[in-house]
Amino acid sequence: MKIRRACASSAIKDIDNYFAKEQGQVAVFDATNTTRERRVGIISFAKEKGYKVFFIESICDDPEIIEANIMQVKLSSPDYENYDKEEALVDFLKRIDCYKMSYVSLDEEKDRHLSFIKIFNVGSRYLVNRVQDHMQSRIVYYLMNIHVTPRSIYLSRHGESELNLLGRIGGDSGLSSQGLKYARALSEFIRGQSIKDLKVWTSHMRRTIQTAEGLGVPYEQWKALNEIDAGVCEEMTYEEIQATNPEEFALRDQDKYRYRYPKGESYEDLVHRLEPVIMELERQENVLVICHQAVMRCLLAYFLDKSADDLPYLKCPLHTVLKLTPLAYGCKVESFYLNIQAVNTHRDKPTNVNIARKPEEALRTVPEHL
Ligand code: F6P
Repeated sequence: MKIRRACASSAIKDIDNYFAKEQGQVAVFDATNTTRERRVGIISFAKEKGYKVFFIESICDDPEIIEANIMQVKLSSPDYENYDKEEALVDFLKRIDCYKMSYVSLDEEKDRHLSFIKIFNVGSRYLVNRVQDHMQSRIVYYLMNIHVTPRSIYLSRHGESELNLLGRIGGDSGLSSQGLKYARALSEFIRGQSIKDLKVWTSHMRRTIQTAEGLGVPYEQWKALNEIDAGVCEEMTYEEIQATNPEEFALRDQDKYRYRYPKGESYEDLVHRLEPVIMELERQENVLVICHQAVMRCLLAYFLDKSADDLPYLKCPLHTVLKLTPLAYGCKVESFYLNIQAVNTHRDKPTNVNIARKPEEALRTVPEHL
């Protein structure tokens, strides 16, 4: 109990720090197996600090779901290292019986003054009480959309485009001859995966639509999946941007996530634009998303929990499919290069990001192109 209390109070300090010093907006405190007294403790701490509390309770009494959860999640815990599976299952069921002795569920009557959602049997029913604000309603919406059915999300960029070959960003060009080969290879790859009820999504841009055409299956076009809008820099090469707008080029290198192209978008804008896509991805099962470099980075960062600083530099090469399989904790990533050569479009962050840098320093990491 002493250790447990120390852990809880250190977690509370962590939350406090996150809100007060790191501009945090939402913190999650895992109060699993909590008693009513501990709940009161959390509420009074929050009240004193002026924080709002929203409880999320997940209740499961379906023996099949419980057993599957123990098998898939709990048995990999260090507690059950070198345990026989059946023995571990029996042991964990006993553990649940012990928890039951002290656990107090949120009560519809006694807790009506609290804000909460109760989720029954992984989403077969919900009870939502006293949603206080926009953030809480978003949390409810999110929780009502996620599911635990096993599935995979396949992410791919379009095949190499005519503008990729020239090192020009943006635009709406068609596929190069290598890009068309990729569309065929992708179709073969997807067929080889024998995916149940696969949905295919593209952007509104020619290069993703042409890539999907090769699959010979219906696909859905999402405007929200369009590539980052580079504004006044659309269809320029990185060299041209440096030559005409060296300051802008350096500013982007200084803070690539927040930098917004004049009359265009930033990665941050893109993340907001992609929110409905991500929510729908959470609702769906197997999906292939055929998108673009910046868009794929944002989707990947969401599933792999990458920071805003790392996001704009994630490696999403052409002609490579990433297969993401959500697991209980995290996401498994498999990468398939389909063996069709393509230009490299990835530009690493240069060491010198100063506005006064020399052009050769600014251009040091620009990939080769025609
Ligand atoms: O170069 C291909 C491309 O998809 C461009 O259309 C887009 O502007 C760019 O990649 C995004 O990558 P970065 O943010 O690294 O410039």
